[in-house]
Amino acid sequence: MNPSMKRRAFVFGTLGGVAASIFARSAIAQDASATIHAMPRMGDDMAMPGGMLASHVPLAAADALPSGAPLATLRMLANESSEPGHFQATLVAQPVARAMLAGQPDTVFWQYNAASGDTAGPAVGPLIDVREGDTVEIRFANRLPQPTTIHWHGLPVPPEQDGNPAHPIAPGAQRVYRFTLPAGSAGTYWYHPHPHMLTSEQVFRGLAGPIVVRAADDPFARWPERNLFVTDLKISADGTIPANGMMDWMNGREGQFVLVNGALRPAIDVASDERWRVWNGCSARYLLLAFDDGRPFAHIGSDGGLLAAPRDGLTSLLLAPGERAELIVRAGSAPSRAKLIAARYDRRKMAMSHGSLPAEPARVLADVRFVPSSAAAATSLPAHLRDIATLGPARGQQSVVFSEAMDMHAMHQPDASSLRMPRGMQFMVNGAVYEPGRVTLTSRRGEVEHWSIENRTDMDHPFHLHGTQFQVLERERGGVRVAEPYLAWRDTVNVEPGETVRIATVQRDAGDRMFHCHILEHEDLGMMGTLRVV
Ligand code: C2O
Ligand code: CU
Ligand code: CU
Repeated sequence: MNPSMKRRAFVFGTLGGVAASIFARSAIAQDASATIHAMPRMGDDMAMPGGMLASHVPLAAADALPSGAPLATLRMLANESSEPGHFQATLVAQPVARAMLAGQPDTVFWQYNAASGDTAGPAVGPLIDVREGDTVEIRFANRLPQPTTIHWHGLPVPPEQDGNPAHPIAPGAQRVYRFTLPAGSAGTYWYHPHPHMLTSEQVFRGLAGPIVVRAADDPFARWPERNLFVTDLKISADGTIPANGMMDWMNGREGQFVLVNGALRPAIDVASDERWRVWNGCSARYLLLAFDDGRPFAHIGSDGGLLAAPRDGLTSLLLAPGERAELIVRAGSAPSRAKLIAARYDRRKMAMSHGSLPAEPARVLADVRFVPSSAAAATSLPAHLRDIATLGPARGQQSVVFSEAMDMHAMHQPDASSLRMPRGMQFMVNGAVYEPGRVTLTSRRGEVEHWSIENRTDMDHPFHLHGTQFQVLERERGGVRVAEPYLAWRDTVNVEPGETVRIATVQRDAGDRMFHCHILEHEDLGMMGTLRVV
C-alpha cells in the first residue's frame, strides 16, 4: 500500500483489516479479505451501541411535507427593554408539538420560543435583531429533558457568556446571558445549543435561531432584506424525529428534507434588488448555493459582516455547515423564474463497505419568481463596502490537525453505548478526542496568530473557532499554495481532505474557547479542542 492510500483510510485501533470493512475507503477495503465474512457479524455480535442501530420505522416519503407556500417570515424576539442601547428578552427551550405529516401524530420539536409562549410560525428560533453597541441580556429557561447551553455562534462575547459545554444549564434551570456588541461586529450570526455530546441531538430536534447585528453606517440599510435560515430535517413515517444512526454519526446527519425558514421549498417573489442573508443551520449538509439557470448574484457579506468589496457575478457559493452569507439578488428587467438550489457538492462521505458515497444530487431550496416592478430601477452596488484591515504581523503560530480513527477496543467497553454514541468512532483534533477541561492550545490575548488547519481525513470538515472572527490567508494542497482571493471576516471555514487552510486571528478576552468541526456529530464525537487564552 503506498503512503497516499494509507492516508485515505481510517486508522484502525485493534482489529486492522477486519475493522476496515466498516469505515475504510476502497484502498483498504479491497485488500481486506475478511471484509465479506466480517460484515454479517457486526450486526449481531458486536454489542452495537444503541444509537448505531438504524431505527426500524422507515423515513417519511420525500413528498410527505407540503411545499410551495410563500417563504415564512421568521419570528422576531421582541425587546422588553425601552432603554436605548439595551436589548432584553427571555428565551425558553422547550418541546413543541407541530402537525407535520398528514394522518400521523404531531412531531415533537425542541425549539426556542419567547417567554410569551407564542409558538406560531417556523420552528426556527426567533430572530434576535440588534445593533452594534447594544448590551444584550437574554434570560434563558431550559425546559428540555437534558442539560443545554446557548452558544452565540460567531459573536465576540466573553468566554463565560458563550454557552461553552463547561457551563451547562440543568433541565428546569435558568440563567442570564449578558454581553455588549462592539463596534465592527455587524453581521449575520446564529445561536444554538452547545452542551457536551448533546449538540447534535438538540440541533436536529430544532434548536437554532438567527441573529442579525446592524451597523449605523450600513451601506445597504435601505435595501429590502430577506432572511433564509436553512435547516435539515429527518423525520420518520410515524412523525417522530429519529435518533442518529451509525451513518449519521460517521458522515454527519442529513435528513430527507432541507427546510428554508422551517418549510419545504417555499416560494419567493423578488420585485426589486434584494439583500439576502443565508444561514447554513444544518448539522452536516453542505449548501453550494446557485440558481438552476446559472444567473449571477453578488456576494457582499460573510459570517462576520460585509466584505471589503462586493464579489459580483458569482454563479455559486459554498456554505459549509455553520456558515452564513449575505448576497445581492437582482430582480432583473423582465419577469422570469429560477430555482434556488443546493447544487451537487461532493464532500466525500464515507460508505459502510468501501469507497465513498456518491455526492448528493442537487436539491431545490426555493422557487423564485422575479417580478421586477417598474418603479424599482436596478441599484448599483457600492464598490467599497467597509474597511477591513489585514491582521498582522503574527506573533504566534498554532497548528490544528483533523484526523480520524476507529478504536474497536473502545467500542466493546461497557459504556460504549452510553448516550447512544458510538464511542470507538474517533474524529480527532491534534491526535485526541475532546476531553472537558483539557487545554489543547494556548494563546495570548491581543496577539495576532497564524493558525494552520490541516485535514488529514478523507472527508471535508468545516473548522469553527469561538470568540472571534478570523481572516483566511491561503489554502495549500499538494505543496501548492493559493492565496485567498478576498478579504473577509469569518468564524467557519471548510477544509477539504488533504488541504491545509491558514488563517490569521486574535482573541480579545482571557478564558477558554472552543474550536471544532461544525459537522455537529463530529463535534459531539470529540473533534473539538479547547483554546486557553491567557
Ligand atoms: Cu456553532 Cu461551537 O459552534
Ligand atoms: Cu460557535
Ligand atoms: Cu467533521
